[in-house]
Parts: sequence; structure tokens; C-alpha cells
Amino acid sequence: MNEIDFDEIDINENAPYEEPQRQYYYIKKCRDYIQKKKQELSRPMYFTIKTFGCQMNARDSEKIHGILENIGYVEASENDTPDLILFNTCTVRENANLKVYGNLGNLKKEKAKNPDMIIGLCGCMMQEPDVVEKIKKSYSFVNLIFGTHNLYKFGELLNEVYSSNKMVVDVLKDTKLIVEKLPTERKYAFKSGVNIMFGCDNFCTYCIVPYVRGRERSRKPEHIIREIKDLVNDGVVEIMLLGQNVNSYGKGLENSISFAKLLQMVEEIEGLKRIRFMTSHPKDLSDELIDVMSKSKKICRHIHLPVQSGSNSLLKRMNRHYTKESYLELVDKIRKAMPDISITTDIIVGFPGETEEDFEDTMDVVKKVRYDSAYTFIYSKRTGTPAAKFPDQVPEDVVKDRFNRLLKQVQEDSAYRNAQKLGNTVDVLVEEQNTQNPEFVTGKMDNNSTVHFKGNKELIGQIVKVHLDEAKGFYYYGTIVTNDAEIHGDEVRI
Ligand code: SAH
Ligand code: SF4
Ligand code: F3S
Repeated sequence: MNEIDFDEIDINENAPYEEPQRQYYYIKKCRDYIQKKKQELSRPMYFTIKTFGCQMNARDSEKIHGILENIGYVEASENDTPDLILFNTCTVRENANLKVYGNLGNLKKEKAKNPDMIIGLCGCMMQEPDVVEKIKKSYSFVNLIFGTHNLYKFGELLNEVYSSNKMVVDVLKDTKLIVEKLPTERKYAFKSGVNIMFGCDNFCTYCIVPYVRGRERSRKPEHIIREIKDLVNDGVVEIMLLGQNVNSYGKGLENSISFAKLLQMVEEIEGLKRIRFMTSHPKDLSDELIDVMSKSKKICRHIHLPVQSGSNSLLKRMNRHYTKESYLELVDKIRKAMPDISITTDIIVGFPGETEEDFEDTMDVVKKVRYDSAYTFIYSKRTGTPAAKFPDQVPEDVVKDRFNRLLKQVQEDSAYRNAQKLGNTVDVLVEEQNTQNPEFVTGKMDNNSTVHFKGNKELIGQIVKVHLDEAKGFYYYGTIVTNDAEIHGDEVRI
């Protein structure tokens, strides 16, 4: 898939205006340049991409990877010195930014030793004008900066970098454009993320995403289905449909369609075994979706349902459009329809003005729902968001104390939920050889829990039956169950 017919492209002519043909043209130009470089140096040209942040960024990095491979670069292994390093950045919390600056600081010396090395920055952080200014000033050795809206132009921008001795900067404020049919290179052969929509219109008051990812726009269902069919033909058995709020999928399309309907269309694709999606905003989760999920054979029994807080006054100030009560009702409804479903969440501690009472409300929701797992975050002030200007930012020691209490509770709940499934035999998609013990492989249950069991790497990409022997907090040890015999994995421990 994504094969570009380079013989058809004449780089002596002017670049075409329409996309993606324009990008194919520039990819070919870069390809010729890299071909010459390789001959000059008598070695391959290497690249490294370092990805921060969420699944969206992970998928974007696969697109950049695809373009780089088409150009003729090879992914650097540990011992290769990369000729091109790209950071795909995240800015959802301050920590994410600091990591990028730390990495850039380390690169300064590398670049001094190896001036031909190309250093590029892209992703959400680059959509912030202050960040770009800081990089121009303090990290002037960077060669390329581009944003989230023009990632499709990477080939064109790289071509500019090759012929320029100045920093190339191209960041768009927003876009309505969705460019289809660009090459991608997947990290895993057997699973893939699939964007169904871009951007976010929810403007939760703490969150920077709507500012750096732009307005919400959905891809056409026929494009999504085509992409998934191609992926399945290429060996993919599991897909994750990606959007900041998948439950509002389809709004604004010429023929408007619900997320539940899209799921039904995806379910029909022959050869596809598992469907996941991320993320569901509780305010838009429909009865139709619950119904479709409960009848489905392929949609995984897992729902990520970020609650953020259990306090009604905080939820209001966060602009989340649901209450503690309506959230709990929704959880009940989902569990009634699918008793075996795993529910996971995101929680923010220390939102401006959070009182002990507000926090107790969050703890109350957590204790009632008993999540399978929860990502807990300390509130991080993001300049440009409404909450950054809210009064009563909570003192650090108070936040830390609440955070630790919350963490203890979610860990207990996680262990409780995991223990409930002990002794069951479940379907596991084998994802990789275990990093610590090569006699073991590691895979994922349909509720997204991790299982380690004895097995060889030929199993990677297959869905196998595994008996859950031992629960270890977040993960299990198991034994593969083949027809009627069991291969015991308990003599070896990691
Ligand atoms: N679109 C997704 C979330 C994307 S960001 C959704 O709405 O669920 C992932 C998580 O980061 C959020 O759910 C939230 O819990 C957390 N987050 C976002 N902004 C934050 C901030 N300023 N400080 C701390 N956590 C934040
Ligand atoms: Fe951020 Fe809210 Fe949009 Fe999620 S729904 S990306 S938390 S603004
Ligand atoms: Fe981060 Fe951007 Fe995702 S800010 S969480 S990488 S959408």
C-alpha cells in the first residue's frame, strides 16, 4: 500500500499544485538528493524520530516515517549516528515541554561534531508561537520547524532544508484540509492507529489541545474504510480509531454519520479481528454506541472514559458538560449492557480552586467506579488556556498529598479488577517478545490488560488463548492454551 510510482514523476517540470501529487513530487526530489548523498558517503542515510505525547502523535510519526523511507532514509539502530533527527513534540503538560528542551540541549554537542546532521521539530509544541521564538533564539542549530497542520508537507519542507542554510519554519494556525494517501510506515505489522477525525472543539478550560490541533474535522467514512481495508490486506488484525472525542465523529460531514454507524461499517471488514477507539468524551457517549458495542464481535470490551474530576463545580469550571451523577449513571448503563467491560479514565488533581471537598468527590467517583486503570495527572498550567488565569491555584504540597491518596486508591482498584479475571482463559493478541526474558512473549487482552506468557516470537501478531495464572497489579502471567495441551510457563520467571 501507499506505493508511489516515482517513474511517473518528472522533477524537471514545475511542482503540481494539487495534493498529494505535490508531495510525491517533492519526495522524489528529496529521493534523488539522498541517492547522491548515499553514493558520496558510500553508506546508508539514517534517521531517528522521537515521539512524545498521545496516540495522535504516534500515528503522525508513522506518516513521517513513511515519507522518510520513501525518500531513501533507513531507521537508525542504536549504533548508527543519525543524519536526521526529528522530535514530534507534545505540549499537554509542562513536563512534556521540558523533556523536549532537555533532549535539544543534549543534541547541541552532537550537532557541533556533525554539522551536516539535520534536526527537525514538529508536533503540538510547535503550534505555540512562544516556543518557536525560544527555539529560534536559544537553539538556532535546529534546521526545521513545522506544526500539526502541515505534516503532510514534510517532503516539501525537507527539500527546502537541503538547499537552505537557514532554519526552515512553517507553522499554520489552523486548516480545513485533510490530505489523504500519503505513505505511512507502521511500528507494528499487525496493528495500527487510524485517524477518524482531527482537532477538538471542546475547549476544556485546562487543555491546550484545541489550540494546537485546531478545529474538529472528520474524515469521510469511505476514506477511513478504504484505509482499514488496505491495512487488513497488509496484515493488520487490530485497529484503533483515533480522535480527541470520537463520540462526536461525523459532525460537519456532507452526509453526517454517527460514530456508532461508522463502527458498524468497520465491523463488516473481513479479516479485521479487533476494533479499539480512543477517546470517548462522556458528554457525547450515546445509547446507540452502547448498543452497537454490546452486539459487536470485534469491538474490544474496553472504554476509556476520562472523568477528570468528580466535583460538579469543578466539572463546570472545566467546561466538561456532565455532572458526577450523570457520569455515574453512564458507567452503570455501560456496565449493565456489558458486565465484563473494562473502564479506564483520566483524572486531574489540583485544578485551580480545587477544595478538599472537591477532591473527596473525585475520590468518591473513583471508589464507586473502581476503574480497571486510571491515568492520574497533576494539573499543569498551560499559557493561553482559560484556567491559567483562574484564581486560587492550589499549593504544590496540597496537590502532591491528594495525588498520592488518589494513586493509592486507583492502584488498589486496578489490582481488584485484575484479580477478578484470574483463572479465566482469554484471547490475547501477541505483540512482542518479552524484553526481559526471550522465552516469554507479551500480549494484550481485549480489555487492554497486559499478559506475559511462555511462547516464541512466531506467535507475534496472532490471537491466542491464554489462561490467566497470576495477577500482578497491572499485568498477568499466563499459560498459552493450545487445543487440549497446555505449555506451562511457570518454571521461568521474569
Ligand atoms: N481528548 C482526550 C484527552 C486528551 S489529553 C479527552 O478529552 O479525554 C489527555 C489527558 O491529559 C486529559 O484527559 C487530561 O486528563 C490530561 N490533561 C490535559 N490538559 C492537562 C493539564 N493542563 N494539566 C494536567 N493534565 C491535563
Ligand atoms: Fe482537551 Fe477536552 Fe478536547 Fe480532550 S476534549 S482534547 S481534554 S479540550
Ligand atoms: Fe500532546 Fe498533542 Fe497529543 S499536546 S497529548 S501530542 S494532541
